[in-house]
Amino acid sequence: MNLIFLGAPGSGKGTQAARISEWLNIPTLSTGDMLRGHIRQGTELGRQAKEHIDAGRLVPDELVVSMLKERLALPDMQNGLILDGFPRTLQQAEELDTFLQIDHVIHLEVPDEAIVWRMAGRRVCPDCGATYHTSWTGFSENCQKCGAKLITRNDDKPETVLNRISVYHKQTAPLIDFYKKQGKLVTIECDAKGTPEHISALIKKALQ
Ligand code: AP5
Ligand code: MG
Repeated sequence: MNLIFLGAPGSGKGTQAARISEWLNIPTLSTGDMLRGHIRQGTELGRQAKEHIDAGRLVPDELVVSMLKERLALPDMQNGLILDGFPRTLQQAEELDTFLQIDHVIHLEVPDEAIVWRMAGRRVCPDCGATYHTSWTGFSENCQKCGAKLITRNDDKPETVLNRISVYHKQTAPLIDFYKKQGKLVTIECDAKGTPEHISALIKKALQ
């Protein structure tokens, strides 16, 4: 099964992709994680992507599409996958249709106010990518999976977050209609009270 997780920044795509990928036993491909990996490794793509990411803008379509195509060609991606954060523009979605058959698009709908709060408290593990929130019971500054010291993402500064939300509404939200017309859209309403466990249960129910 090939799934897309679609939603605003901070809507929980990464959190839910990790849980559902374990449940379905398929890998997740996050274009955001891949681009941050390129930045860490100092590649030419990372150099080009960094200024866009730090400003809260999208990385140009041609760079992201070719990076994704290359990764999809590897053997571990042939038996189903979750795309987290791709596609993000109509052009990306149209191109994706030419090389991958998508079964369902899980749209995580979260109010903008909740997003700003979520991003302010997000901490991530620089080594294994696990995501936490400072408000969670038992929150610790070290990763519970691998022990590394957690960091705040560069693009989680409040002014960058507001820009990312506005970019989402302008460039990515049109995909909701695009996939509705294809009959693939499943919208999960994530109100402020829905815990990650509760949201995962809703996604699993929708997929069964
Ligand atoms: P990317 O890394 O994809 O960032 P994003 O879409 O902005 O989304 P986030 O990773 O910030 O949030 P998320 O939805 O994964 O939420 P999370 O689970 O962490 O992309 C970064 C940048 O790369 C982009 O801005 C762009 O520049 C570039 N890029 C990437 N893909 C691209 C593409 N296809 N084209 C062009 N450019 C591209 O959750 C957020 C927080 O909330 C966490 O702290 C989490 O613990 C908490 N949380 C999660 N669920 C809940 C819940 N139910 N209740 C309470 N808290 C929760
Ligand atoms: Mg993410």
